[in-house]
Order: sequence, then structure tokens, then C-alpha cells
Amino acid sequence: MHRCRVNVILWFLENVKMENIAILGSTGSIGTQTLDVVSSLKDRFKVYGLTANRNVEKLREQIKKFNPEIVVIIEETGYKELKKDFPNLKILRGIEGLCELAGESRLDTVVNAIVGSSGIYPTLEAIKNGKKVAIANKEAIVAYGEILMEEISRNNATLLPIDSEVVAVHQCLHNRNVEDVKSIILTASGGPFINVHKEDFKSISVRDAVSHPTWKMGKKISVDSATLMNKGFEVIETHFFFRVGIDKIKVVIHPQSIIHSMVEFLDGSILAQMSVPDMRLPIQYGLTFPERFPSRVEFCNLVEVEKLEFKSVDSDRFPCLGLAYSAVEDGGTVPAVLNAADEVAVDQFLTGNLPFTEIPEVLVHILKNHRKVDRPTFDEIVQSEKWAKTATLNFIRQK
Ligand SMILES: NC(=O)c1ccc[n+]([C@@H]2O[C@H](COP(=O)([O-])OP(=O)(O)OC[C@H]3O[C@@H](n4cnc5c(N)ncnc54)[C@H](OP(=O)(O)O)[C@@H]3O)[C@@H](O)[C@H]2O)c1
Repeated sequence: MHRCRVNVILWFLENVKMENIAILGSTGSIGTQTLDVVSSLKDRFKVYGLTANRNVEKLREQIKKFNPEIVVIIEETGYKELKKDFPNLKILRGIEGLCELAGESRLDTVVNAIVGSSGIYPTLEAIKNGKKVAIANKEAIVAYGEILMEEISRNNATLLPIDSEVVAVHQCLHNRNVEDVKSIILTASGGPFINVHKEDFKSISVRDAVSHPTWKMGKKISVDSATLMNKGFEVIETHFFFRVGIDKIKVVIHPQSIIHSMVEFLDGSILAQMSVPDMRLPIQYGLTFPERFPSRVEFCNLVEVEKLEFKSVDSDRFPCLGLAYSAVEDGGTVPAVLNAADEVAVDQFLTGNLPFTEIPEVLVHILKNHRKVDRPTFDEIVQSEKWAKTATLNFIRQK
């Protein structure tokens, strides 16, 4: 009996290796939910690294609770505070710090839950150093998709999605031939204004725009969900992630957010992935794929859900989705410029300097004035993003 127990322990130690995991953007909505998932899978994951932009208070709490080996903070003030509070902890600063953490030899998995395309730097560093990367940071994929996917193939690396729609497609496509796909159907809840008339868009406040009906998210993605720019970014993300032509990617409004996306095959079959809307499920999928474990997510009671509805997108009220399709068709630096312009426009809306209705107008203006670079290098994308951010800010200030 005793020997048997020893054998079981030995088997466990040999076969179930603890994964050292770094959560980039641990203080955000996806970051905190990732920590919740990791807490429920304590036997598999050890929190090795945590990072934030400036939220020292939350990071301090997380350090005390998860006892990481390395912490990174972008802002200088926060860095000084943390150094004082935790003199024996390895604390790094800035993008360089994020890259150092992502390449650490003892690290196995990097979760990228940063908002904004600067998340590309630690992502590439992790890939080059053979880490498994689970990515929520769609802006980095939108802006640097081609380069990112080339690096993945070159390094034979594993990139797993965390975005719920992309996770749904990943599950529907798993072990199936992409050649057999007729279309990928991304679902969209439609955001808070799906039933609001165009003339009432003028009075939309920041508070209205960040109140999503089905998902609790960070402010930037909540506004992007309200304009449907977020769905546009997911179209671009799907295009790069699965190497599927843009003409095969469709969007339908599905207000219940139970079906997270679907794949339609040549024979007319449609596979869908369903669950209650809870980001902890796609996060856990990204962390544990191809295995499955019990989760803290509620089971979906379809009788209570009662109905699943589908509607087409009204492109007149939500022009941002169309901008994403054109950006992929135009290619080169255009998706990066759309993403950078949107980052500034949303920020200006959140700070009260731009009405909600003018976000699409600003994006159209910037795209029209951009001089596209085909097959851009990494540096050319960085330059185009810089140009787009300055041009967007100047345009809004002149309005
Ligand atoms: N939330 C969702 O349900 C959801 C779903 C699918 C995909 N995503 C994607 O996941 C990413 C994160 O979204 P979120 O909603 O979790 O955002 P969030 O709540 O705003 O959190 C963003 C995280 O990134 C950090 N951060 C911000 N700017 C940074 C910078 N320049 N450099 C390094 N770190 C920075 C923040 O630190 P501070 O806290 O210190 O500011 C925070 O930890 C986005 O790309 C989003 O599109 C989110």
C-alpha cells in the first residue's frame, strides 16, 4: 500500500510538470481572470512573473498573494515604490523588463494580457526563446500579424488564443482541414447600442459606452465593442491566426453571447462552440490545451437560455467593422494604422475630447491620408503606428 502511494507520487512528479507562467498585464481584466484560473489549477501552474503598466496597488496585492520570482512595471514612479516595498524581489522596468521576463530560461508559458500593440515586443521575445504563448492582446496581432505568424513558423512555436471568438474557432477547426472550410462565422453580442437608433448615437456618453451587456472588460475593448471595431479587430486576428482569406470570415450579431463563434464546412455542416459568457473558460483553454480540466465557470443551462438569435450587422450604424475588412484587403501597414488611430481616438473619447459618433470619421480620415507600405519590415510598422498616433491626435485637436 505504502509502495503503491510512493509510485503514484513518483508518477505524478515525472509526468505532471509544474509550468512556470508569466502573466503580462496581470492587473487588467484578462490578467486578474487568468490569476483566478491559475489559482484553480495550483497543481499545474506556478506564477513566475507578474506585470503592470502603473497600477501599483493591485500589483502589490498580487505579489503578496502569488509570490512571483519577477515583477515588471512600466512606469518609473511605480517601480520606485515597489523597490521600496519589496527589497528582495527582482523588479524590472519598462518594455526592456517585459522582454527580459519573457525570455527567462526558467519560464515555460507567457500569457499576454497587455492592451495595445506594444505587447508585440515581449511576445516575439517569448517565441524566440521557445516559450508557449497564450495571447489575448489582439492589437499586437492586428498590427504585426504577418511578422508574428512568420516568427511562429520559423521557431516552430506554440501560439494559443485567449480571445473567446478565436478560441471558439480554434476548437471548431481542431484536427480539421482548413481547405474544407466554407466560412468562419464570428459572433458579436452587438455591444450596448445594438438596439439604439442612429439619431440617438449623438448623446452616447463614456459611461454608456463602457457598459457592455454581456462581458465585463477593460475600458478600451468595451468602447471598441460598442463601435464594433473590436469585432473588426477579431476579423483581422482570425485572418492572421488561421491563415484564412478575409472573404471567408463573416460576422453575425448574436445578442445572447452563448455561441462564441462557428465554422461552416463545404458540406453545409456548421460547428459551434457554446458556453456561458465567462472569459475564464477561453483563458483556461489557452493555458491547458489540448487537455481539459474542471473549471470555475458555470455550466450552461440551455433551457434557461431559451433562445439563440442571429441578426446581420447594420453597417450604416457600425461602419468600423467595414474599415477592418478594407484594412486587410489593402494590407501592408494599413491594419497597424487602423489599430493605432483607433487607440488614440478611443483614448480621446474616454477623456471627453471626442464624441462617440466621430470615432469612425477620425479613422476614415487617417486611413485616407496614410501612405501604405507593402510588405513592411518591423520598423516600418513601428513608424507607421507613430505617424498614425500623431496624425490622429492632431486631427482631433483641430476639430
Ligand atoms: N477583457 C476582455 O474580456 C478581453 C477579451 C478578449 C480579448 N481581450 C484583449 O486582451 C487585452 C487586455 O484587455 P483587458 O480588457 O484585460 O485590458 P485592461 O483591463 O485595460 O488591462 C490591460 C493590462 O495591460 C497593462 N498595460 C496597459 N498599458 C500597457 C503598456 N503600455 N505596457 C505594458 N502593460 C500595459 C495594464 O496595466 P495597469 O493595470 O497598470 O494599467 C493592465 O495590466 C486587450 O488586447 C484586449 O483586446 C480582452
